[in-house]
Amino acid sequence: MKTEMERQHIVVLSGAGVSAESGINTFRDSDGLWENHRVEDVATPGAWHKDPELVLRFYNERRQQIRGVEPNAAHKALASLEDHFKVTVITQNIDDLHERGGSSEVLHLHGEIFKARSTLDERLVYDLGRNDIYPGDLCDKGSQLRPHIVWFGEDVPCYPIAHEITQTADLIIVVGTSLQVQPASFLASAAPYHVARIVVDPKAEADVPAFYLREKAGAVMPSLVEYLCEKGISDLSGLEKL
Ligand code: OAD
Repeated sequence: MKTEMERQHIVVLSGAGVSAESGINTFRDSDGLWENHRVEDVATPGAWHKDPELVLRFYNERRQQIRGVEPNAAHKALASLEDHFKVTVITQNIDDLHERGGSSEVLHLHGEIFKARSTLDERLVYDLGRNDIYPGDLCDKGSQLRPHIVWFGEDVPCYPIAHEITQTADLIIVVGTSLQVQPASFLASAAPYHVARIVVDPKAEADVPAFYLREKAGAVMPSLVEYLCEKGISDLSGLEKL
């Protein structure tokens, strides 16, 4: 048995596709609309400025939806990787399905739906628990609360930490992301050159050198994890047979 210090480090970059089989729509599989809204109407600083009530309502609905779904086989398989490896999940998802699936180290690049933050001081972040956010809900300094989400056009404060994490990776697994949104997309190639990459996505294009598993995450991730736990990460040639 290896100690924590000796464990190999698998970094997982996940996106909306990993939660698709739990019943949450991906972004780019739905005609450019996100749950019937244009992204610029609900997920930009301009949208918040123009119609904060709409934005709050939109995220309250997303929160309700996420409360009603469960982690799927992919989330659970990724959690069980921790029996053999050090695993860090860097996700673009704002849901909590990796955590509920059992993953212990999860970094949310684009924020978390179950948190709120102050519009005055971004360091003031609050757990929402069972609550939603309504007009008039204020932070400790008296300003309106907003969703703790990174909107288009905003900085991604966790990016430098995420980049640093990829530098210590022994293997990268990219799952369920179109890699179309920067800077998250840079992370797939940010690890040192010798580090192998596995991409799990039914519609993946071969734009980075990697082992491609073009299947749904819930279908293939359990056998991928079983393979890695049994054979290790140095010989990935058997992945073709999964
Ligand atoms: P996208 O909707 O851009 O991409 C989802 C990817 O998942 C696509 O490549 C699909 O082919 C793939 N996919 C669909 N079903 C799958 C399944 N069952 N198993 C595996 N893969 C599957 O979502 P993201 O790349 O996550 O940003 O989008 C990135 C960001 O853009 C989001 O975080 C969000 C969005 O607008 C913000 O909200 C700031």
